[in-house]
Amino acid sequence: MTLSLLLGILAAMFIVTSGQATEADFLRLYSDLLDGYRDKRHMRPIVNQSADIEVTMTFKLVSVMKIDEVKQDIFVQAEVLLQWHDKNLVWTPSDYGGLSTMYVGPDTA
Ligand SMILES: *[C@@H]1O[C@H](CO)[C@@H](O)[C@H](O)[C@H]1NC(C)=O
Repeated sequence: MTLSLLLGILAAMFIVTSGQATEADFLRLYSDLLDGYRDKRHMRPIVNQSADIEVTMTFKLVSVMKIDEVKQDIFVQAEVLLQWHDKNLVWTPSDYGGLSTMYVGPDTA
């Protein structure tokens, strides 16, 4: 899937759910947030580089795939969700037609 197709799908999804925002609002926000983000993504995403970053970790057990009692092994399938606030990914919704949420793929930036 090409990036432009993916963007089109994301914009379409967003226009359906956001009411006033247009595809142009979405694309402008996408560009304003993510152009150049690749250069920042290895920095700690806070202004004060000495301060702590609060990271919330959620572990969700999806299934137990195998238990080997003799070897004392357990194989599971799980989801790990890590959440933190990134100062580089903040915007004022009213500047973008009211867009308050944007979904992008994990390999976007
Ligand atoms: C930055 O964070 C450190 C550690 O929390 C704190 O001691 C320091 O006062 C902070 N500096 C500023 C300018 O807020």
